[in-house]
Amino acid sequence: MNERVFSGIQPTGLIHVGNYLGAIRSWVDVQEGYESYFCIVDYHAITIHYDPADMKDRILDAVASNIAAGLDPEKCSIFVQSHVPEHTELCWLLTCLTPLGNLQRMTQFKEKASRQPEHVSAGLMNYPILQAADILLYKASIVPVGEDQLQHLELSRVLARKFNHTFGQTFPEPQPMLVQQAKIMALNDPEKKMSKSLPGSYIALSDEPEEIRAKIRRAVTDTGPSHEVMAPGVKNLFMLLELEAFAPGDIVRYLRGAYERRYLKYSELKHAVAEALVESLTPIRERRRELLARPHILEEIVAEGAKKARTIAHETMVEVKERMGLVSRHKRA
Ligand code: TRP
Repeated sequence: MNERVFSGIQPTGLIHVGNYLGAIRSWVDVQEGYESYFCIVDYHAITIHYDPADMKDRILDAVASNIAAGLDPEKCSIFVQSHVPEHTELCWLLTCLTPLGNLQRMTQFKEKASRQPEHVSAGLMNYPILQAADILLYKASIVPVGEDQLQHLELSRVLARKFNHTFGQTFPEPQPMLVQQAKIMALNDPEKKMSKSLPGSYIALSDEPEEIRAKIRRAVTDTGPSHEVMAPGVKNLFMLLELEAFAPGDIVRYLRGAYERRYLKYSELKHAVAEALVESLTPIRERRRELLARPHILEEIVAEGAKKARTIAHETMVEVKERMGLVSRHKRA
């Protein structure tokens, strides 16, 4: 129960079933067994182009959606990165330990930089140091992340080792806990991943039942008559259906059997997928809406989360500064 878990959540503004079935559901499991900190990483979000006018809503939405999907503020701490100034403070100290080359060869840095070549800031490059600071500030030993974050996690370990070696044992080396990433494909283009930047590709947690039904009805299935390999669109629909929460086993078995015996009507499969999604997403959508209607409750939750986080963050900073020769813990002696 004592191991500490930290993970960061981007305030993306829209959460789709792919995100839900990947990261969010793993966090919901994690909070049961660990001392968990879930941080809405707004300082990371400003490293790419964004609109200041909707940042506040994106943050509240991230809090509301994650709570609606099962994060329980009684069981874990949910807070906003910019409410705990120690994140950027530790980030600076770690920046001074980070070799430039390690940052320049980060895959995500190169990808994001190539997408916005006119705006490659030092913040974008230093993004992984801030991430390391997030984790090390809480001396977290376990970090639930998707595969795309492994390289960033590796830097967190490098920095923990380097700090310990240079200034004395302080940080555990954080280990990734790979979250099961259901690779849900775009409904309208099943060769690509479901993504909020592809309209028509996703079901959002906020979609009303009629929107869900319409999007599933339009989902691409077979493109040709070949039945030798299951077409990616059909496979995707089965995957949505089978992800435990979404449909009762007997329906899945019946549809699978029908597919194998080649009498499955795709309209029947789509109907089952849509109804299963409607049923499991309805409580999440309603809870999210209720929460967003009462922003002061969300604000209290993150204020409480930040309070708990700051207690630990402050202790770590006192220790870190002392080890680095910046302040003495025993000033009065
Ligand atoms: N970079 C992570 C992502 O895009 C978000 C993140 C920020 C994070 N800080 C973190 C994840 C610390 C884990 C731990 O998903």
